[in-house]
Order: sequence, then structure tokens, then C-alpha cells
Amino acid sequence: MSQNNTLSSMPATIILQCISCGNTYPIDEIRYLCDCGDLLDVWHDLELLRSQINRGLFDGRLSGAPGPRVAPTANSGVWRYREIILPTTVNNIVSRPEGNTPIYEHNSLSQWVGSQNFFLKHEGENPTGSFKDRGMTVGVTQAGIMGAKAVACASTGNTSASLAAYAARAGIPAFIFIPSGKIAAGKLAQALAYGAHTLQVQGDFDDAMRLVRQVCNQMGIYLLNSLNPFRLEGQKSIVFEILQGFGWQSPDWIVLPAGNLGNTAAFGKALYEAQQLGLVNRIPRIAAVQAEGASPFYQSYQTDFAEHKTMKADTVATAIRIGNPVSYKRAIRTLEWTDGVVATVTDDEIMNAKAIVDRAGIGCEPASAASVAGTRKLIAEGVIKPEETVIGILTGNLLKDPAATVDYHTGAWSSAQFANPSVQLEPDIAAVRKVIEKRL
Ligand code: F0G
Repeated sequence: MSQNNTLSSMPATIILQCISCGNTYPIDEIRYLCDCGDLLDVWHDLELLRSQINRGLFDGRLSGAPGPRVAPTANSGVWRYREIILPTTVNNIVSRPEGNTPIYEHNSLSQWVGSQNFFLKHEGENPTGSFKDRGMTVGVTQAGIMGAKAVACASTGNTSASLAAYAARAGIPAFIFIPSGKIAAGKLAQALAYGAHTLQVQGDFDDAMRLVRQVCNQMGIYLLNSLNPFRLEGQKSIVFEILQGFGWQSPDWIVLPAGNLGNTAAFGKALYEAQQLGLVNRIPRIAAVQAEGASPFYQSYQTDFAEHKTMKADTVATAIRIGNPVSYKRAIRTLEWTDGVVATVTDDEIMNAKAIVDRAGIGCEPASAASVAGTRKLIAEGVIKPEETVIGILTGNLLKDPAATVDYHTGAWSSAQFANPSVQLEPDIAAVRKVIEKRL
């Protein structure tokens, strides 16, 4: 392993800092909230980093081929940006490796959303099939550094799948809290398969979140929800990869689904830092898209955040079925930093957008399609201009939620515009020929 891939000589440049009162704490203290009760950030010494990092440093690290003798710092799309994520020695890092996700373009998609410059970054092509891996590699690495005896999270499914995998890699027991019967089959299967202790709570995600916070405080278990600021540091790498992928020329918009608001928070922080560090001159605007039935952030946005709304959430996009998002305040800051907007889309719009993404040979889980449905809506409303460059984030893999897809195509979804039902037929060549001739 080359010396280049370690940071052991780097001075500690990070602290925990309250997003409201500015109080600071050392990063080796296990805490998720400030004494004043508000959320914490991992804060980097941007002054110092400005003299240590630049575009060339990150561009020079783009070549690493995956392999047992190659350090994760060389082939992970998270650890490539380690100075501005979590400076640590390579031996501490728990990585699959993650990131380096593709960016897709497709004519039918661009036409459907009404954009001349529409791209999709597929975070569902991470090792466990969602963007959560980018946060989890950092969160579980930090758990190991802190000597955590166990880790835990509440989840609508993807966080738990990711935590289960990374905890297994690190050899740390994982306890996951999920709303009973309310997570997609692929995600539950992952948690069980990776060996996590899986607690199905008879309630919704918000109940599970409340319980896991209590139990972590009471039993000294390390909490790995996005309340934990190290998770968000990893998720910032989605933005760094986008900027690098566009040759450090910012697109005009980044559009993403919003549930617990961790990603919305991480994206704003990444863009703020990228600009402060001189990696880009101009930053994109953020559009956070919620499902109408799970839209507390949108409803608060409608009051200019004079009111902090919560709600009982319900949507087909189970990943974002959240009524009281944890990173609420951090997400407001993202809107301020990026001149951002918030939108909602209906479940019908989500499922039809998903069908368009799927048919383009790309595929995603329902929550991800909120980016595409949201882009279409914001273009129709004139908020996003057709000629502007837009990058939508697909957050989860098609295979996460097979039931939603099969229901859509087989008639259980009454307003499916692009259903592709299968054909039942006798085991008879004439019957087969008839179907094929009709379709060709
Ligand atoms: N898309 C997918 C596929 C998700 O799994 C999530 C969140 C989001 C979007 C929303 O991101 O919470 O950062 O605003 N899933 C969490 C989980 C809540 O438990 O897996 P967010």
C-alpha cells in the first residue's frame, strides 16, 4: 500500500459543532446532539484544507482498480475525498468499496421530463443497492475507531440493509429497528441475510426512530442513523463525484428524493464546502422532492419554515415514508446555501416515473423515482428551465422492492400508464407464435 493512501501524518482537522449555537466537541466523544439539544455537524478546518486539497489531487486518484491488494482509499468513491470526509488511517476503514456510481442519460427519459440536459446518477448501484453505503462506510469506520460494542439504527429498509452489511464486515453486532410489515422485501432479506438482529416494531418509522435513540443512549450502543453526523460526511461524496464527473463544472440543478432529510443535508454541506475550498466556482441549486403523503418538509417550506410540520406518513415509496424527519434544520440550511426548492409528487407520479426509468433499462425503487417525477413537475411549472443541466439522484435499486414493480405491471396499480403485463399461455407453439406475431 503506498504511503499516498494513508493519512496518518495528517493533523486532526475536524470537530463536532452544533448547527445552532456553534458549541464544539471533540470527535472522539460519542454524542449525536449538542447540550442545547440541536443537531451536530462534523466540521472541517476549511482554512487548512484549502492549502492541502485541490481538483488535481482528486483527479489523480481516479485510476484504482478494485482488488485485495488495493487500498479502499484508492478505489472507493467515498475515500477518494477522505480529507474532507474523515481523515483516518487506511487500516481503520471498513469499505466494500462503495461509490463510483454511473451517470446515465436516455432520450426517452429526457423527453418525458421535458429537459434537454437530463442525467441520472444511480446510487442504487452501490454494494448493497442504495446510497446509504456511502454514509455507512464512514459511520461503521468511526464506530470501529470508537470501539463500539454494538451499532444500531431505525430504518425504512435501506439504512438497515447497509448497516447490516458493513457491521458484518467489521465484526460488530448490529441491531436494526424497522416498522413491522412496512419495509420492502429485498431490504428485509438483506438485513436477515447479513446477520443483523432485526427488531420489527409494531409502529411506523418515526416510532422506531424514537426507540432506537432511547436504547442507544441507555445502553451505550453506537447509533448509526443520519442523526449521526459521520454518516452525512460519507453521503457528501455523491456531490463530490457529481462535480468531479462534470469536470468540476457544476450542473444547474441536483434533484433528489427527501425523507429523513439526511441526503438533503449532506448535499448542501458538500456544496458549501466545495465552493469554500475552490473546487467549483458556482454551485447547483438543490430540489428536494417528497411524496405527497409524506411531505412534512414541503408543508413547512410552504410556511417559509415559520411552522415545523410533522405528519402521519403514507406513500407507496416506503423508503421515504417518514413524518418527522431528523435532519429538518440541516435541510433548511441546504436550501439557504443553494437557493434550493422543495416539491411534492403523488404516488401515481412516482410510479409512472419509475416505469419510465425502468423501461430505459436503468431501473430504480419507487422512492428514487421521486427525483424524476419531481424534475418533470418543476420543469412544467417553469422552476427548472428545459435547457438547464439537471442531475437526478436514483437512490435505490430496482430489486429492492419487487412487489411494487410487479403490482404496477399486473393491474394492482389502477393508474399505471406504462404497464407491461406478462402473458399467460398454454404450453403450445401455436399459442406462442400468435403472441409473438402480434407483438412484432
Ligand atoms: N431514497 C431511498 C431509496 C431511501 O432509502 C431513502 C431513505 C431516501 C431516498 C431518503 O433519503 O432520508 O436522506 O432524505 N431511507 C432511510 C432508510 C430513511 O432508513 O433507509 P433521506
